[in-house]
Amino acid sequence: MTEADKVIPGKDHPWTMRLQRFLARAGVASRRGSEDLITAGRVSVNGAVVTELGTKVTLGVDEVAVDGRTVAMGEGPVYLMLHKPAGYLTTMADPQGRPCVAELVPRERFPGLFPVGRLDKDTTGLLLFTTDGDTGNRLLHPSFHVPKRYLALVDGHLADEELEPLRQGITLDDGPCRPAPCAIVDRTSACELWPDDTQTIENGTVTPVSIELREGRKNQVKRMFGAIHHPVIRLHRDRMGSLTLGELAEGEWRELEEAEVAALKSDMQRMASENDPSRTREDEK
Ligand code: URA
Repeated sequence: MTEADKVIPGKDHPWTMRLQRFLARAGVASRRGSEDLITAGRVSVNGAVVTELGTKVTLGVDEVAVDGRTVAMGEGPVYLMLHKPAGYLTTMADPQGRPCVAELVPRERFPGLFPVGRLDKDTTGLLLFTTDGDTGNRLLHPSFHVPKRYLALVDGHLADEELEPLRQGITLDDGPCRPAPCAIVDRTSACELWPDDTQTIENGTVTPVSIELREGRKNQVKRMFGAIHHPVIRLHRDRMGSLTLGELAEGEWRELEEAEVAALKSDMQRMASENDPSRTREDEK
């Protein structure tokens, strides 16, 4: 590194900022929440606890830690996907000590990481995590719900026309569902996804189906198939907007590429304008 490459601390240097801003930018907490962490004595700079809100830190120079854990310098919000295995609760902590998804993601490296939405304990597939509270909460808001695709293995031999009520918009006990595109899936690819069920898939006592939801009500997929008398036996999510699980192995996580984050945000914008055509990009900034 040459002298010219070094980041020089200074009041007006663009890479020097207030500690609370640094923490918020790193996705640890909101600006207000970061101030609370500082005044509570939970933040240190270069090993020394700092409680002064005006303290300045410089990217690439100072080491900031929260509760003793280093906050990666210069990192903006983090977005990652997990291929959730069955048997894990979607929570960052379970008071009863049951297996939860927090054990499968790098929570120490990325303080403030939280799951966006939830998958049931027995559901597998794409679960998004972020430290970006703003985007995460928007994704959960009904106006911004991006389409989510599920593959379901349902009980019984299901004929295509039985899916019609789901395509039209079935009414559940908590109200009408939006029309959900759905189709019976090729049995060979279903056997690849659920090898333990190969026999029942091949002999037709169960049926693999794909369904796309634009809302996120509790147990919605299971309740929708329950309502047409084909209870769900297995459930897997493989897509959220333009984000796909791809070849990510069960139990593994990976950070999203910048282009994937940008695509997800534009999916949200598109959903918001479809839900309310008067809403423009400017409104969302
Ligand atoms: N719908 C369900 O019923 N369960 C899930 O885990 C996700 C969607």
